Amino acid sequence: MVIYFTGTGNSRYAAEKIAEITGDTLLDSSDYTKSGKGIDLSSEKTIVVVAPVYASAPPEPLLDVLNKSTYSKETSAYFFMTYGSEIGSCDRYYLKFCKENGLTYMGTTGVILPQNYLMFFRMRTEDECRKILGNARDVIDKVGRTVKEGKTFDDKLSNILIYAIVKVIYPFYDKHFMKPDQFYATDECIGCGKCAKVCPLGCINMVDKVPQWSGRCTHCTACINLCPKEAIEYGKHTAGKLRYHGPKSIK
Ligand SMILES: Cc1cc2nc3c(=O)[nH]c(=O)nc-3n(C[C@H](O)[C@H](O)[C@H](O)COP(=O)(O)O)c2cc1C
Ligand code: SF4
Ligand code: SF4
Repeated sequence: MVIYFTGTGNSRYAAEKIAEITGDTLLDSSDYTKSGKGIDLSSEKTIVVVAPVYASAPPEPLLDVLNKSTYSKETSAYFFMTYGSEIGSCDRYYLKFCKENGLTYMGTTGVILPQNYLMFFRMRTEDECRKILGNARDVIDKVGRTVKEGKTFDDKLSNILIYAIVKVIYPFYDKHFMKPDQFYATDECIGCGKCAKVCPLGCINMVDKVPQWSGRCTHCTACINLCPKEAIEYGKHTAGKLRYHGPKSIK
């Protein structure tokens, strides 16, 4: 089974391609990240987890779900990350997760896809996105074939000292900065509800056709990037910045 978590669709795009090659079933983790429940994976021999890198780590809501899920003693796990520039310490997180849950660790690898964190990073132009997506195709195909053949990924483990730093910084960042309190809809909003639909944590409610943010937000940027009217802003960080409408929007 290929399980993915996504904000703006990069990880879904990679997951779909991998599943196409391996012939595996595809599972969107968002029902589980919303409910906070684990997944029954006890009949799966192999799982492939696909997700974006957040602050050099896997998304915390996804890790919560994986830690609550059930596995068989024979389950092998591959991890595939999508990121704007660096995969960070994700491999260390997943290695620990596999050890604690009795899974066979088959490796962590990933690919650069368009940056989506418009609050704090430079967004790529459409031409740049097209080039990035073009370069990524072969990498994703190769990963799909490696999984299908049952081979391990051969990436070297990342630096353990950096992991020690990330382990301190990410929970702090997640708790204090990954909050929805600065999001708001502008007058351009048409009340379509797409932002609420795409939020993988279910933290947007439509009240009188106006989105209201509350609860746990992981800054996935789905709401602000995928709004068809580009009618969402985040404090003063996003005015005039390019939006990334996902890989399918790049022709
Ligand atoms: C909250 C957040 C943190 C991010 N942190 C990193 C990072 O540490 N390193 C990096 O290379 N890209 C980082 N990115 C970029 C995403 O990992 C990248 O754009 C990813 O492909 C988005 O995947 P998605 O479309 O499946 O959500 C971050 C994006 C977000 C929203
Ligand atoms: S997606 Fe955009 S236009 Fe639609 S309800 Fe949300 S903010 Fe308004
Ligand atoms: S509120 Fe927006 S940024 Fe936060 S988790 Fe939901 S879709 Fe992602």
